[in-house]
Amino acid sequence: MDPLLEARAISRSFGGVQALDRIDLSVNGGEVLGLIGPNGAGKTTLFNVICGLRPTAGRVLFKGEDITGLPPHQICRRGIARTFQLTRPFAELSVRDNIAAAVLFGRNPRRVTGLDEARRTADLVLSSVKLDRRKEARARELLFSERRRLELARALATSPELLLLDEVMAGLTIGEAQEMVEILGVLKRELSLTLLVIEHVMKVVMTICDRIVVLDHGEKLAEGTPEMVAGHRAVIDAYLGVASA
Ligand SMILES: Nc1ncnc2c1ncn2[C@@H]1O[C@H](COP(=O)(O)OP(=O)(O)OP(=O)(O)O)[C@@H](O)[C@H]1O
Ligand SMILES: [Mg+2]
Repeated sequence: MDPLLEARAISRSFGGVQALDRIDLSVNGGEVLGLIGPNGAGKTTLFNVICGLRPTAGRVLFKGEDITGLPPHQICRRGIARTFQLTRPFAELSVRDNIAAAVLFGRNPRRVTGLDEARRTADLVLSSVKLDRRKEARARELLFSERRRLELARALATSPELLLLDEVMAGLTIGEAQEMVEILGVLKRELSLTLLVIEHVMKVVMTICDRIVVLDHGEKLAEGTPEMVAGHRAVIDAYLGVASA
């Protein structure tokens, strides 16, 4: 079966910094692929390229079609959504309306046009990220962990097939991270979503990922099952040794 997403020989530099150097990446439909590596490895830049940032070289294919450099709304309409490391909801809107806005302006395959209908769709998304009880709160009133789940909900509201998650566990307590792991499990099992996940917490990566790609200084250092990657000498030297220090 062809991969859902394919990045071919992606390079991207910023001035003198080579953030990505000929990276190949395939994401198969239905899998959870982890993207790990030390700070500055190029992980977020690879997400940005998948979501429309022009690479210096290389192509991005989604379902076999070239989407390299397309504007963000077109990438979204094709079925790719992402979360950001720093969340940025509409602070004064309710949680529910933040999600309803994403329903209306996102991919919207059911062609929802009215606010009431968008709110009903938002309610379904709210429950999948366990924010039901906070739906009337303004976004600015949310706790940190709730903001994280709102960010996830806004991405989900655009009905993606491929969801890119940039460090959704960062800063969460162990209990909150556990809750997020459960939510991601439900997305994979019940919504058949394909996930590409940047994550620093190795326990989480090992638990949720089917496969892992390791980046270091813009290069691909290793790729394989969690067990293979955890036992890879270069990965331990470049990353795991530092992460566990
Ligand atoms: N817009 C930009 N302008 C200049 N340099 C950039 C830009 N975006 C990224 N870089 C540089 O590219 C390299 C890769 O950065 P990137 O944010 O992709 O790393 P990362 O793996 O996501 O790191 P982190 O784990 O800290 O989030 C870094 O050296 C960074 O400083
Ligand atoms: Mg990053």
